[in-house]
Amino acid sequence: MPRWPAEAIWEAVAPLLPGFSVEILPEIDSTNTELMRRVRAGQSDPVLLVAESQTAGRGRLGRDWRSAPGASLTFSLALPLAPADWSGLSLAVGLSLARSLHPDIGLKWPNDLWWRERKLAGILIETASVGAARQAVIGVGVNMAPPLQSEGLRTPAAGLRELVPGIDASAALLRLAAPLVRTLKTFETAGFSPFLAGYRERDLLQGREVVLSDGVHGLAQGVDATGALLVHTAAGLQRVTSSDVSVRPRTDSTP
Ligand code: BTN
Repeated sequence: MPRWPAEAIWEAVAPLLPGFSVEILPEIDSTNTELMRRVRAGQSDPVLLVAESQTAGRGRLGRDWRSAPGASLTFSLALPLAPADWSGLSLAVGLSLARSLHPDIGLKWPNDLWWRERKLAGILIETASVGAARQAVIGVGVNMAPPLQSEGLRTPAAGLRELVPGIDASAALLRLAAPLVRTLKTFETAGFSPFLAGYRERDLLQGREVVLSDGVHGLAQGVDATGALLVHTAAGLQRVTSSDVSVRPRTDSTP
């Protein structure tokens, strides 16, 4: 297991987030589930919770998020967040992670990091209101090595060590933690628009045929200033905002 740089992360992040703490656990059901439990129980101080292993990791749309112990970086960050508009948050988070990890990582709307047509990382954002304050729990799973067998997955997996040889989960976390917090602070005051140009540079769907989970298909035309995906369909230009929608690039084998 890696030696986690909890102190270095704390030193980089605490000046940005008063009351911040870092916690590393060998095992938990899910870092998101745990932080949502704590938030609902009234915890309001920001915390970064890292798990070396999750027994019930969760993905978007009610899916499981599985990984073998040591094969991925899994963490969640809980913090009070009060943006005027929440739209585009997952895109800004994805952009921050990609920028921290490697120039060649692309973004697949709305929550995935991809490399060479394979999924490298996923983001699960949940929120809860505690009194008047809103807390966000930002969960991130990064594959470190490609799973030995990724045939069973909806999307084949990539591993960060393919792009950054020798990197381990602790080094990846140290790289991305403070920039992620800075991104969240910028998003809180200015929304998605400061991230739009950076998102466009890494937008993997731009100009590609895509299929939405409701079967509608069309040509992806990038995202607008709120982070909505624009898809040119047979019925005209559609603005896709729902976090319940999944999108995949259309391939020759797509029905
Ligand atoms: C997705 O790809 O659908 C999102 C995956 C998010 C996985 C991370 S792992 C850490 C955190 N805890 C969870 O249970 N899920 C997120």
